[in-house]
Amino acid sequence: MPNITLPIRTERLILRRFEAADLDAFHAYHSLPETARFLPGDAKSYTQCMERVGKYANFVFESEGDWVALAIEAADSPGVIGEVVLKWLPGHGQGEVGWSLAPGARGHGYATEAAEAVLKLGFEGLDYHRIDAKLDALNTASAAICERLGMRLEAKHVDKWRYKGEWATEVVYAMLRDEWTARSR
Ligand SMILES: CC(C)(COP(=O)(O)OP(=O)(O)OC[C@H]1O[C@@H](n2cnc3c(N)ncnc32)[C@H](O)[C@@H]1OP(=O)(O)O)[C@@H](O)C(=O)NCCC(=O)NCCS
Repeated sequence: MPNITLPIRTERLILRRFEAADLDAFHAYHSLPETARFLPGDAKSYTQCMERVGKYANFVFESEGDWVALAIEAADSPGVIGEVVLKWLPGHGQGEVGWSLAPGARGHGYATEAAEAVLKLGFEGLDYHRIDAKLDALNTASAAICERLGMRLEAKHVDKWRYKGEWATEVVYAMLRDEWTARSR
């Protein structure tokens, strides 16, 4: 079974397992349409958040298709300010990363810092070969995170998704383990 040792500490953040007490903070940002804009599904109800936090708190990461969402907390201020996600994709050594932040936590580089820690987990802890991120082409804030991380823009799939009542173009950023190693030197 892959080993994910928590919490993960970065310069300014703690990435840890979700717990029931995170529900109100999680709901505060996932109930906002602006958070849901580039995520599948609508802004989440309290009940949906309760289910989601329960699932995240009890994550199982044992085989392809499993995924983990880690609560992001500022090291100097307790409380969830967002989450960073790692999916174990089907194939050999393949992962996908994703992120969301509460509006008040944006603009400080926290999502980039959390995602970088998850790339490190994937490449160095789980021995992944390739990690990608799939974004709505209009989600420039997420594209900027990928660029800051040094991920490559790999693909653009026009009208790949239909959600929120309209077609959306998917862009795919990716990084290989060799690229991670070269970047980390
Ligand atoms: C996507 C999302 C996480 C981006 O948040 P963000 O705050 O822009 O990203 P970061 O936390 O990495 O912060 C980067 C910003 O902080 C600034 N910043 C300040 N200090 C920084 C530092 N030490 N390091 C890096 N960036 C820093 C950057 O310049 C950038 O600001 P800018 O966009 O004005 O240039 C956020 O918009 C969000 O949660 N959206 C809703 C959910 C969503 O769409 N999720 C992604 C689906 S693919």
